[in-house]
Formats: sequence, structure tokens, C-alpha cells
Amino acid sequence: MAILSIEDLTKRFNSLVAVDGMTLSVEEGEVFGLLGRNGAGKTTVIKMLTTLLPPTSGSAKVAGYDIVRQSAEVRRMIGYVPQELSADGELSGYENLLVFAQLYDIPADRQKLLVRQSLESIGLKDASDRLVRSYSGGMIRRLEIAQSTMHRPRVLFLDEPTVGLDPVARDEVLAHIERLVVEVRSTVFLTTHYMEEADRLCDRVAIMHRGRIVAMDTPEELKRAIGGDESTSLDEVFIHYTGAVPEQEGGYDDAAAKRHIARRLG
Ligand SMILES: Nc1ncnc2c1ncn2[C@@H]1O[C@H](COP(=O)(O)OP(=O)(O)OP(=O)(O)O)[C@@H](O)[C@H]1O
Ligand SMILES: [Mg+2]
Repeated sequence: MAILSIEDLTKRFNSLVAVDGMTLSVEEGEVFGLLGRNGAGKTTVIKMLTTLLPPTSGSAKVAGYDIVRQSAEVRRMIGYVPQELSADGELSGYENLLVFAQLYDIPADRQKLLVRQSLESIGLKDASDRLVRSYSGGMIRRLEIAQSTMHRPRVLFLDEPTVGLDPVARDEVLAHIERLVVEVRSTVFLTTHYMEEADRLCDRVAIMHRGRIVAMDTPEELKRAIGGDESTSLDEVFIHYTGAVPEQEGGYDDAAAKRHIARRLG
């Protein structure tokens, strides 16, 4: 069954068409990756699907609910980790999770136990009483994923879950997402511009370029379609369809993302 169905979804910002007639569906239990360079329109898609931004035209359903007409129901079905930092640096990890347990209407007598269990499962038990301001980028991302999955959402939206992380922290976050897929059995819709990450995590990917989907399939099929084999990387597929090299670390965008985190945490 399709848990996410998107039909001709379009978003205009004045003369700019940020998302241009996107149509796709995601099956329950699938890990789906939306790939694209900076400005391709990935975050705009996620903001529409999470009901934060109204579409200009077109429609989408999440777990059977319309994102415009049934936005309250959609919000109950989803978890969302935004591209920007969302944890509160002035609270401890424990306090951050407790806020979300309350937000999601978890019964009061279960909240504290659930928060403790969550902290343990993401490897933050020992750091649970420290202010999040003192956490590493990878610890913060794991905390944010935990807070958006406390209510066991049907669909989890992750907008660039590993941006700005060093390779070790990135690996920890990826392993955590992989575990989550098995344990929570949530459908995952994520965006990234790291191709090897998409290759490792995603059942299917869509390559987005200037608001449009230019290719969509399993990573294996996409490689085969451009005449590749086992040794072909998803980077080569990306270059084939977009004519562009995916962003590498260390550029302005990377620095800006990291500074954004640093600024927010003081
Ligand atoms: N609120 C807004 N008002 C005007 N233009 C916007 C707004 N939000 C996004 N845009 C523009 O829409 C386009 C798509 O932006 P979006 O943030 O969706 O891209 P993205 O693929 O998420 O990029 P990144 O990889 O940098 O996060 C960009 O050209 C961006 O400048
Ligand atoms: Mg984005």
C-alpha cells in the first residue's frame, strides 16, 4: 500500500518554481531518498508534506490524509527532523525528550521511562543530564531523531540528517536510522546530497534537479540504466542526470551549515 502519494505537487515563490509538478508514491516500510543539489527543492517538498508550507497546486496524501484539508491528521501520523537545528541547547538531552513526550500526548506515567529508554537506545544515557549545548553534532542529530520518533510515527521525514557531520558521527547517525527502520517499522522519507549515504540507506531514490524529478528507481536500477555495473557509484548516476557533481564537504554550504549549528548553540 502507498503510504505517501504525491500528485503533480507544485510550489512557486513568485516567479521561481521551486517544486515543479512532482508525482511519486512511497510504499509502507520503504526508505525513500530525495537527492539533489542545494536549491533543487528538497526542503520545499518536505515542508509541504509535513503541512508547514501550503502547495501552490497539486496534492499529496500521507497515510491516507490530505496534506491541505486534513493537516491535523497528517501531523499526528508523522515525525519530522528539520534541516536546521531543532534541539534546545539550553536544556539537557533528558529535558529535550521530555518536552516531546508531553507534546505527543504520551501518558504522564509513561513519559519518564520512555525518555530514559530512548536516551539509552541512542547511546546518550551518560550524557542525558548535560546541556545539549555541549553535545557534538552527531549526538544532537541522534537526539533530534529520537525526539521525532517517540510517538512511533507512520512516516518519518528527515531533511539532510547528516549534513555538517564528520565521517564518524555520520556513520553513527546512519546506523541509528538503519536500526530505527527495523525497530519502529516507520517509513522514512529523507533528503541528502551525499550519494553514498543514499546508496546505503535507500530502497529507492529520486534525483531532483531544479524542482523536477529527473530519475527515480532503486540505486541498482539507476546504475544499470546508465550502463553501469557493481562498481558504478550513485555519484556517476547523479552526474549523468543533473550534469553536476554533488556537493563535497568543506565548501561554503558545509561551513554555513556548521556555523548555523554553532550560532544556535551559543
Ligand atoms: N520561503 C521562500 N521564499 C522564496 N524562495 C524560497 C523560499 N524557500 C525556498 N526558496 C527557494 O526555492 C528553491 C528551493 O529551495 P529548497 O530549500 O527547497 O532547496 P533544497 O534542495 O532543500 O536545498 P539545500 O540542499 O540547500 O537545502 C531555492 O531556489 C530557494 O532559494
Ligand atoms: Mg534543504
